[in-house]
Amino acid sequence: MEKNGQRSRRLVLLPCPFQGHINPMLQLGTILHSKEFSITIAHTEFNSPNPSNHPNFNFLPIPDGLSVQDISSGDIPSLIQRLNVNCKSHLQECLSQIVTGGQQDDIACIIYDELMFFVETVANFLKLPSIILRTTSAATLIARTTLAQLKLEDLVSLEDSVSQDLVPNHHPLRFKDLPFPSSRKLETFSQLVIDMYKIKTSSSVIIWNTMDCLELSSLARIQQQYQVPNLPIGPLHKFGPGPPNSSLLKEDTSCMAWLEKQTKNSVIYVSLGSIAAMDEKELVEMAWGLANSQQRFLWVFRPDSIRGSKNEVLSQIFKETVGERGCIVNWAPQKEVLAHSAVGGFLSHCGWNSTLESICEGIPMICKPCFGDQRVNARYVSHVWRVGLELENELERGEIEKAIRRLMAGKEGEAMRERAKNLKEEVELCIKECGSSSNSLNKLVEMIMSF
Ligand code: UDX
Repeated sequence: MEKNGQRSRRLVLLPCPFQGHINPMLQLGTILHSKEFSITIAHTEFNSPNPSNHPNFNFLPIPDGLSVQDISSGDIPSLIQRLNVNCKSHLQECLSQIVTGGQQDDIACIIYDELMFFVETVANFLKLPSIILRTTSAATLIARTTLAQLKLEDLVSLEDSVSQDLVPNHHPLRFKDLPFPSSRKLETFSQLVIDMYKIKTSSSVIIWNTMDCLELSSLARIQQQYQVPNLPIGPLHKFGPGPPNSSLLKEDTSCMAWLEKQTKNSVIYVSLGSIAAMDEKELVEMAWGLANSQQRFLWVFRPDSIRGSKNEVLSQIFKETVGERGCIVNWAPQKEVLAHSAVGGFLSHCGWNSTLESICEGIPMICKPCFGDQRVNARYVSHVWRVGLELENELERGEIEKAIRRLMAGKEGEAMRERAKNLKEEVELCIKECGSSSNSLNKLVEMIMSF
């Protein structure tokens, strides 16, 4: 590709193939494309992005060798370990062809998701600079390494995942807030953490989808351990020419017309992201909690989000009790939904993207973390940034009803909404010219240009 008589520099980006990881990586690609880089997305066959949604990018499919069983097992740490083994030689081969082919743009560097750490070995082999993208919060790194270290020293077991005791030196985290894996394999998890966060990295930079105004002290604590710069350039979806559509599921935009008919701050948006699932009992409790709250709601109900059989009770509850007060879709245009003035609260699993997207729109949250980093994020939302409250126990209709009323109709909710509005303004300052994330982004571009 030529621009002003000069070859533009190519960046190869390799996301981890889950929705919550694909989104920030493609957002980063969009930002860097707007800075005149040419972008190639190297991706696994599993959950591959749709090239027609990204006409400005090139795509490089990498065989991943995953079996149907790997994909359906639900054991995400093992699946990630497998990807790190299976994809290495294929990526190396594909990139070698580009590097030695000589007909394409130079590859300036490879940017990879922290979970796809095999890329560092490939980059070293090809003598290409590499950059890591961390897609979770800084607090999550600290919590994960703490948990892995405790496990190495045999000081923690899965039983501690319900303990209310505070983790020493990690205020305000309790043991139950640590990112225990949902599968019963604490060893696999610990190994993954060690591989992912090794202090001695040959990567040149670590990029974070977070910002100083949220996580200054966690970022400073992390920077002390690493020799390479840690650059917080979040929230990625708010930079550049607008986020690309990287949804793996088809968005049902009919909910936007429904939102148009609702009054300001009257709707609670409910979504548990792209992976978390409920069993039938939890589904019924959630449905009754929403129905009994008497509030308006928009509920994302993914087809695969129910373990076990789908429930007839649901349609009955909605026909008889809810009517026009609720809207259910399989998958929503979430960023647009959260930016709509009718939405006044978000009942969320607190995946990092959902948490950031909610904070960016000044929407207070009810946190119902399901696994992993979501627990850390929920604790920070409720006890550090204080823009939400946490549903601590099993899903139960009375608790859900009470939490929704507290957030949507109570004085406490009003105070959280006010704090959420202030936090939104702080985030806006980070991405303005000379804001901390903007400065970090400029630094990143300079570094890439210097490779
Ligand atoms: C996963 C992990 O579960 C999460 O904890 C981790 O932080 C990132 O990887 P996921 O559960 O999918 O992610 O949650 P989240 O991080 O919130 O990402 C979901 C993404 O899907 C968000 O960008 C959200 O906007 C989008 N989304 C969700 C939609 O576009 N439509 C929907 O209906 C629901």
